[in-house]
Formats: sequence, structure tokens, C-alpha cells
Amino acid sequence: MIDMYNKDYLNEKSKVNIEILDEIDSTNEEAKRRILAGACNDFVILARKQTAGKGRKGRSFYSPKDTGIYFTFVHFTDDSSETVLKVTVAASVIAANAIKDALNIDCKIKWVNDLYFNNKKVSGTLCELILKDTMNNSHNAVIVGTGINLCTEDFPDELSGIAGSLKEKIANPGSIDDIVIGYANGLYDFFETNDLKPLMPLYKESSLVIGKEVELSDASGFLDKGIVTDFDEEGAMIIRNLLGEIKRFDSGEISLIIDGE
Ligand code: BTN
Repeated sequence: MIDMYNKDYLNEKSKVNIEILDEIDSTNEEAKRRILAGACNDFVILARKQTAGKGRKGRSFYSPKDTGIYFTFVHFTDDSSETVLKVTVAASVIAANAIKDALNIDCKIKWVNDLYFNNKKVSGTLCELILKDTMNNSHNAVIVGTGINLCTEDFPDELSGIAGSLKEKIANPGSIDDIVIGYANGLYDFFETNDLKPLMPLYKESSLVIGKEVELSDASGFLDKGIVTDFDEEGAMIIRNLLGEIKRFDSGEISLIIDGE
């Protein structure tokens, strides 16, 4: 466990209001409850512990008390160009940047948005979109939920060998506030323009998979296999498959093909 969050410092430096909760099922679910109850200004929720943290594809996100950042940013918008893919890709570069500024380490990004450090996943983001027609609100709501493992240990069996943390790099607790502030302000700035273009060079530079062979699948199974050649300005992944065809994918999940495996 570490000494988490200085509330006054966070709110003094952040461009968006940050609330810290002791314990919640999931910061994304709490955000949805607040949106449905009529919230209409952008906000951030942090929790010291989640009892039912959610990951992508229906997975859970392990969130023990005071060992990680469990963060949700809610942004209200009318801009229909704010796609979940674009926001998810933006979030990963912005998170990597915030971690780099606070801890001076380079995380690698596995498309779409998993962050890796020392070959272990240390962060993931679950973006959700609630359309205004489905609730009593005049704007759509974009929900960006991110978990960052700071000193998490004893991961459940299914995560051991895959998940890791930034423990060895956290020398002073103030740097945790700096990650949160950098990330919240980075997302705030991104939502001002919705332009992924300026973030793409860093996304590519930080990519774990560019130039590598990957296999892509979705809920119904295998989609394609090939070398990742690029990412476009919408955040989609471009691959050259085994037939030499150039294909663009805007959803799905990849696994790296390692020589000899
Ligand atoms: C993934 O790796 O699949 C995404 C993980 C997202 C976890 C974060 S923790 C804060 C927010 N609240 C949740 O329930 N999930 C996200």
C-alpha cells in the first residue's frame, strides 16, 4: 500500500474537478450512475479501491486498495467524431506521457491501449460512450476509465505472468498525484480539439507491435495474421497479411507472434 492522493494539490493543478472515493464497485459504473442522475459537466472520479473493476471484453480489473490508480474521466460532447477507438488510442498515449513525465520511464503501447513496462501489462483503459438519446441529457457522454498498477502484487492466477506494476519506479508518493494531473489535463486538452493527428507520432514511437507479426481476433474468433505496418489518424491498425494484402482494422484484439512459439 502507498500513501495515495493529495486532494488539494490534485484539484489545484487539474483543469477538471477530481473527486476521490474510498471504495466503489467500479468508477466507470459510478460515472454512469451520475450521468443518468443528470450530471452535465466534465468530471473525474478516483477510487482507492474497486470491488468490481471492469476491463474490456467483459473481463475484470484487479483493483486492491491503495495499490493502483483507478480513474474515470467523463466528458460531455456533441462531437460525433469522438469515436471510442479514437478516444481509446488518445488515452493510451496521454497516459504513457503522464507516466513518463512523473516517473521518467517509457511504457510501450499494445494496440489498442494496453501499456506495458518490463514486458508486463501495467495499465489498461475501458472507454464507453453513452448517447444522449438513451438518457435524459442534452449531450453524449464519453467515459474514459483507466487502471494503472502502481505497486499491485499477488495478482489472481489468470493474470500472473501477464500483469505487472510500476513499483520499482515510485520513489515518492507525490509522483502519483502528478500522473493523475498529467493524465486528466492531457485528456482535457485532447477533448478541446478531438484531433488524434498530433498524438500519432508518439503513439507509433511507443508501439510495442509496429513492425511485428500479430494475430488479430474478435469475439467470433480469428480475423487475420500479418505484420503491423502503421496506425492511421483514426487509431485503426494497418497490417500486411500473409497474402501480402494491406488491411485496416478498427476493432479486435491482437496477440504477438513470437519466433519459435
Ligand atoms: C482493460 O485492461 O481491459 C481495461 C481496464 C480498465 C480498468 C479501469 S480501472 C478504472 C475504471 N473503472 C473500471 O471499472 N474500469 C476502469
